[in-house]
Amino acid sequence: MNALIPVILCVDDEPGNLKLLERTLGTSGYEVIKAADGREALDIIGSRTVDLVLTDVMMPGIDGLETCRRIKGDERYRHIPVVMITALGSKSDRIRGIEAGADEFLSKPYDHAEVLARVKMLLRTKQLDKMLDDSYSNIQNLTSFGSHIMTSFRPAGFDLMVQVDNLANQIIRKNIYGTGRPSTVLVRILTGHVFAWYIYEYDSGELKRNGIDLDMLLCISDKNTTACFLNSPMSLPQFRSLVENLASRNITVANMTCYLSEMASVFAINYGREVTQFDATVLESLAMQTLFFMHLAIQIRESDDAFAYTVHSLARASEANDEDTGDHILRVGEYCAILAKKLELAEEWVQSIKLQATLHDVGKVHTPSDILKKPGELNSEEWDIMRRHTVKGAKIIGDHPKFSIAKQIALSHHERWDGSGYPFGYSGERIPLEGRIMNIADQYDALRNARVYKPALDHNTTMRIITLGDGRTMPQHFDPQVLKVFVETAPLFEEVYEKFN
Ligand code: C2E
Ligand code: SIN
Ligand code: SIN
Ligand code: FE
Repeated sequence: MNALIPVILCVDDEPGNLKLLERTLGTSGYEVIKAADGREALDIIGSRTVDLVLTDVMMPGIDGLETCRRIKGDERYRHIPVVMITALGSKSDRIRGIEAGADEFLSKPYDHAEVLARVKMLLRTKQLDKMLDDSYSNIQNLTSFGSHIMTSFRPAGFDLMVQVDNLANQIIRKNIYGTGRPSTVLVRILTGHVFAWYIYEYDSGELKRNGIDLDMLLCISDKNTTACFLNSPMSLPQFRSLVENLASRNITVANMTCYLSEMASVFAINYGREVTQFDATVLESLAMQTLFFMHLAIQIRESDDAFAYTVHSLARASEANDEDTGDHILRVGEYCAILAKKLELAEEWVQSIKLQATLHDVGKVHTPSDILKKPGELNSEEWDIMRRHTVKGAKIIGDHPKFSIAKQIALSHHERWDGSGYPFGYSGERIPLEGRIMNIADQYDALRNARVYKPALDHNTTMRIITLGDGRTMPQHFDPQVLKVFVETAPLFEEVYEKFN
């Protein structure tokens, strides 16, 4: 069935009258459905699309007035124009018809030309009314789509396919009443160097996406984007192969709007009415919002990578004077992330500590190399200098909010829960959480690794020192909560140590 042929429901208990109407309307480009009474008419309206109702007043059972009242009293159907057929000159029929909500009146016997003129005028009015409604809901859609995509925007997890699904869902027709919307949406996306095509259709209340192999040449320029609308798509050579291809899949393209660009193209096909420039503009806005956020996500990811690269370079620079600690700085980031995750901290915070923990000892650039590389124990003057790497590190990192975790870690990673650490001797929760996490991560790695002043220890010995103490390190140095999750995740620490070594 072509959705663009208006459907007229004629209701009369006299078969002769119905036949007459059917002949008049049927030969003028309308699809005619007949009903013998109000009951049958209402059943038909409930089960399929009807564009206009022509009903006799006098009928057994539910009469024309009651039929009209029920149509106009139902939110789903009240937009359907109702033409009441009255006896010639019956003023009371007309008054009651107006009260029932009838849109127009015709009197028997029918005048061929008048029937056609009234029907045409009513359908045109209905169409304009519908376009106004559609425009309004399109504007609402655009706004809500934009704000949805903005509030749910997560650059790291941005998935173009999810956004394209949302876009298709936003515009596609979901039921038989959504005739102002396209029944099919086709999307072409550039992935790597190949184009992937997807077709969207609503099926049993659900949006279905299927990959589709559309082998064709679309002349889409690389730079320019276009939005267009077509009411006879075959007429443009550019779209002929697309239309033919869809025809071979039993999709007859009556009209479409499209947005074309190199990255992504969207085709909205078979609106249940003529399409306009406005429809093309709506599609363009939706597609551009999606692509805008995709480009933004890519740029944010690139700048995040550059940020990570800079942080790692700075962390490496601080090792210049120190003995070779290998991948110590990368490992401590991994350990901190393991602990933070187990402590159920926000994913973003977990990623931040993983990166920024690598800067914990950046202050050691100020520590003389003969202290750092001294094979034996430090004397008290050397310890005084050594302890300053915390405060100096915080100063190097500075006050930028993006580096707040790094700064807190540099400053507090040698504080102890019982207050016996440095530089301030803070205790308990006075020590920032990131410092308490880093303290265990740092010691696990320092113990596992050989230093000029100490040999490498195995996992079990290290675990014993941290959980039972060795005099220098004691369990009361650690936040009990962090120590608990450290014990629970210890096998992961061992894995990380083996992997980055
Ligand atoms: P680091 O070598 O990265 O060690 C970090 C932390 O791991 C130490 O913080 C300490 O809490 C723990 N740790 C390291 N080695 C041992 C160990 O053999 N036994 C125990 N129980 N814990 C250990 P701390 O003590 O505040 O030291 C900070 C930094 O001072 C060290 O960083 C290292 O650069 C330096 N340092 C510490 N002790 C000595 C030493 O005896 N000789 C030299 N040359 N440097 C030392
Ligand atoms: C968080 O952002 O999840 C809180 C971490 C903190 O205590 O600093
Ligand atoms: C310090 O002297 O404060 C650090 C050395 C240690 O606790 O073993
Ligand atoms: Fe340190």
